[in-house]
Amino acid sequence: MTMPRTVEPELMDDAEQAAAYDAADFSHSHSQRVTLFERCFARPLSGTVLDLGCGSGDVLERFAKKFTAAKFIGIDGSAPMLDLAEGRIDSANLSSRVSFAQAFIPSPDIPKNDYTVIMSHSLLHHLHEPAVLWQTIKEHACPGTFIFVADLRRPESESAAQHLIDTLAGNEPEVLRRDFYNSLCAAFTADEIKHQLDAAGLQDLRVEETGDIHVLAHGFLR
Ligand SMILES: C[S@@+](CC[C@H](N)C(=O)[O-])C[C@H]1O[C@@H](n2cnc3c(N)ncnc32)[C@H](O)[C@@H]1O
Repeated sequence: MTMPRTVEPELMDDAEQAAAYDAADFSHSHSQRVTLFERCFARPLSGTVLDLGCGSGDVLERFAKKFTAAKFIGIDGSAPMLDLAEGRIDSANLSSRVSFAQAFIPSPDIPKNDYTVIMSHSLLHHLHEPAVLWQTIKEHACPGTFIFVADLRRPESESAAQHLIDTLAGNEPEVLRRDFYNSLCAAFTADEIKHQLDAAGLQDLRVEETGDIHVLAHGFLR
């Protein structure tokens, strides 16, 4: 049986922690995320994309550079993360298509829109009550919105989690290794996510394990 979940703090609102996260090299998994999205969405992307828990904006920047006909809104509850994200998007000259709002999900401060896509990367495992993500998605989606939620998945045991850290983040600073380990222990399994989707009435979404450590829920809403 998989080890029980150990939650971690929801927000990454410590400036040092946000800076360490921003400095980490996620280029491999984040560029793969764009490729995976293209494969799943399988059509030209336009309209507006909502990114819940955008953090320091590395994924958003990659999406905005790839999908030049789309606009993006990034939401996060952490002011230090949003400062980093705004700086990144500004430096990349993408501010005309990418904007941000600070909101602690669930929140009335998330802009309403006819979203083409609602996505979220590595937010779910932070949430003490995962249903708030699925309810927020339902509240902001319209018929035809494409949902794309990617996250870590919880390993079988603490030793399996430690092995992944040693293998995948052996050379990273201690603060990042600790965050990564805590995140793996806080993540959900694919079966748990399927139950969450059933409970939320989102059973049309497909849940897949991707690679060694990730899980993806995706699909169009009716
Ligand atoms: C691991 S980071 C992921 C950032 C980014 N999506 C990425 O993939 O690089 C998780 C982010 O979710 C934010 N977060 C966690 N719980 C939140 C909540 N309830 N409302 C808003 N943001 C939240 C944290 O502040 C953090 O920036």
